[in-house]
Amino acid sequence: LSQKPQILTDDGGDLNTKAHFDKRFKNLNIFGATEETTTGISRYLAIQLKKKLRYPIIAVNNARTKMMFDNRYGTGQSTVDALLKTMNLLFASKRVVVCGYGWLGKGVAQRCTGMGSKVIVTEIDPIKALEAHMDGFDVLPIKEASKLGDIFITCTGMTDVIRKENLLAMKNGAIVGNVGHFDVEVDTKFLLNDSKSVKQVRPNLDECILSNGKKIYLISKGRVANLIASEGHPPEVMALSFSNQIHSILYLLKNHKKMKNQVYEVPKEIDDQVALDALNSMNVKIDRLTKKQIAYQQSW
Ligand SMILES: NC(=O)c1ccc[n+]([C@@H]2O[C@H](COP(=O)([O-])OP(=O)(O)OC[C@H]3O[C@@H](n4cnc5c(N)ncnc54)[C@H](O)[C@@H]3O)[C@@H](O)[C@H]2O)c1
Repeated sequence: LSQKPQILTDDGGDLNTKAHFDKRFKNLNIFGATEETTTGISRYLAIQLKKKLRYPIIAVNNARTKMMFDNRYGTGQSTVDALLKTMNLLFASKRVVVCGYGWLGKGVAQRCTGMGSKVIVTEIDPIKALEAHMDGFDVLPIKEASKLGDIFITCTGMTDVIRKENLLAMKNGAIVGNVGHFDVEVDTKFLLNDSKSVKQVRPNLDECILSNGKKIYLISKGRVANLIASEGHPPEVMALSFSNQIHSILYLLKNHKKMKNQVYEVPKEIDDQVALDALNSMNVKIDRLTKKQIAYQQSW
């Protein structure tokens, strides 16, 4: 690496994790980092908990203009695109099981509903489960949902969400994919190593014949389906994420000396500015509080 300041790119926290634990990065003078992904941030929070963060990190993923749009609308749309490209099946009438009802899960559930599917949600967080229930979805444990679904999409960032016993319980012909960060959400090892046969039947689609004779179709070997089998998010939505990135990098360059080695949220001014810039680019105007309204707000 040269001595000049450089911006290195990372996704999911791999590079920053290396910068903390790989000796080759020990002497590198790092001002700070910005993180795009839910998974990356959870890794830094774990490092922070052990008081081992080396520099400040801005959690770009947590900006409202990032996760409410990129994770929800971006992944929602590109997941549907990935499913269409790999399966070319009818969505209408299919039962889609969405595992996880965070931002990704909400987007995927909403878009699959729009395509005419009946969506079942699985969750471990009672509040998210209640939200899914009130949004009109059936909420079930994975053990029960696995018997009912035609298509399964994991959206959790967690490991072992769809396990061997769930795969064995699925209907013949069920389709399984993941759009969370790593290929650990579905037990792909079981599908790819323990099946009687594995055959690629379409691009990014493997047909796995299980020991019980059932066929299960696995999308992009359990890796992030909307990035592998589709083109990822459309530019309008990525522009929001990347605006947060560049504003946060500039903020770090200006303020890193007075920042602590911890995970910071994106400053609200940046978040609001990104939304305003996006609205302007789409020629959408909004109201501003009048003096009377500000006085009313402050009068209590
Ligand atoms: N594919 C993409 O393009 C893309 C885009 C953004 C984020 N991501 C990744 O997707 C993952 C999810 O992101 P998010 O922003 O929706 O996170 P989130 O934290 O908002 O949502 C994750 C949800 O999964 C639930 N969950 C955890 N374990 C579960 C389990 N065993 N069963 C059912 N639900 C479970 C959590 O309770 C939570 O509600 C992360 O790994 C993130 O890095 C992918």
